[in-house]
Amino acid sequence: MKLCVIGTGYVGLVTGTCFAEMGNDVVCVDIDEAKIARLRAGEIPIYEPGLQELLERNARAGRLTFTTDLSEGAADALLLFIAVGTPEGEDGSADLQHVLAVARSIGRVIDRFRIVVIKSTVPVGTAERVREAIQGELDARGLTDLEFDVVSNPEFLKEGSAVQDCLKPDRVIVGTDNVRTAELMKELYAPFTRTNHPTVVMDIRSAEMTKYAANAMLATKISFINEIANICERLGADVGAVRLGIGADSRIGYAFLFPGLGYGGSCFPKDVKALIQTARAEGYDAAVLEAVDRVNQRQKAVLADKILAHFDRTGQDPAGATVAVWGLAFKPNTDDMREAPSLTTIGQLLDAGCRVRAHDPVATDSARRALGEPDRLVYCDDNYDALDGAHALAVCTEWGAYRRPDFERMLGLMAAPAVFDGRNIYEPDKMIRLGFRYQGIGRRNP
Ligand SMILES: NC(=O)c1ccc[n+]([C@@H]2O[C@H](COP(=O)([O-])OP(=O)(O)OC[C@H]3O[C@@H](n4cnc5c(N)ncnc54)[C@H](O)[C@@H]3O)[C@@H](O)[C@H]2O)c1
Repeated sequence: MKLCVIGTGYVGLVTGTCFAEMGNDVVCVDIDEAKIARLRAGEIPIYEPGLQELLERNARAGRLTFTTDLSEGAADALLLFIAVGTPEGEDGSADLQHVLAVARSIGRVIDRFRIVVIKSTVPVGTAERVREAIQGELDARGLTDLEFDVVSNPEFLKEGSAVQDCLKPDRVIVGTDNVRTAELMKELYAPFTRTNHPTVVMDIRSAEMTKYAANAMLATKISFINEIANICERLGADVGAVRLGIGADSRIGYAFLFPGLGYGGSCFPKDVKALIQTARAEGYDAAVLEAVDRVNQRQKAVLADKILAHFDRTGQDPAGATVAVWGLAFKPNTDDMREAPSLTTIGQLLDAGCRVRAHDPVATDSARRALGEPDRLVYCDDNYDALDGAHALAVCTEWGAYRRPDFERMLGLMAAPAVFDGRNIYEPDKMIRLGFRYQGIGRRNP
């Protein structure tokens, strides 16, 4: 099939490349000229494991091309995918300006039947707005009778494993009332769903809602276990043991119940808030989701609170303290800093007067863009270098490289061996035996 994917961010670039990998001809379109120039040169603007090789192979084979000109992309493609950002608007609702701008552009360039597939995460009712925006442009061009279809096809890939998720999705959701469009979408996704993963066809509004419901459920699990962890801490119980105890219940399961510093990234925070706003606009108070969001905001502050309380207890003046931060990205295997808990931790520590020495295996450039170069913040190329003279270590992201460090070397480098483990990657009794002061999240120290 000939496809056009509009927006070459984490979703558009990965899905476009994976469609090409299955033999489709894909034109990727973006308004960001610098990004398109880099992609044409074979350079990937994001960090996503496995993407480089796939992209190079398909670009070389001529199945994957990049342009800033939508008319070029829409000329031959029957399916036009909208994969642009839907950031948080001022009131928490999804900002649809990019989606609607693309819809209008599509209305300005198409001259025959096209199927517009919405991959961006958009509130219920957006497909209708996209339809109106396209129709408005067609009317203005005197093409009132030109037919087109609008489909909802939300994306569920996870940054860090986006390529694998895209090639082997748990399910594909297709929102359409048109039987022929449903068949075409099934055909497109057949190579990805061969191992019996379902393509679920439903009405458009339910498809739009499915994406929000999925992210809201996952965010709820995270805020739930963080809440349990905070209660465990106060009662001398260990959330790790509790997790194992509850996960054995098949109605609960083990997945996504790891306590930490709260969820971040470009999806959960904004999608939970957008769903709250969508419900509010209909006069419904989404009380569970409000609490999920509130717990998450609070959780982001937990690590720096622990560190500053520790300084207070031990008589360490924060203004004379250095804190090493391991991990800046909102989760491992990505360079995405959007809503990363490390931003809150570092902000609190700097506000308290601390010096911060930060390390991340891949997200340092994104972190520089997010945090700038404030006084007292140093970015280190090496995680041990970050420990030099540190009075505490804050682990904000559970990168693999931090899981089994050289503890003796750490002890030698730190001015005071205190580890604040925001991701529970170390064993408390081992850390204490080695000579560290140790605090995790919701754990019982021996
Ligand atoms: N990132 C994820 O893990 C993920 C997962 C599932 C769904 N989503 C959803 O997918 C959508 C895209 O997310 P993302 O993380 O890929 O976004 P992103 O910010 O990484 O990329 C968006 C891209 O769209 C481009 N763009 C903006 N306006 C444009 C226009 N008018 N024409 C062409 N290109 C335009 C931007 O230049 C940018 O390259 C969002 O709705 C998001 O919620 C994201």
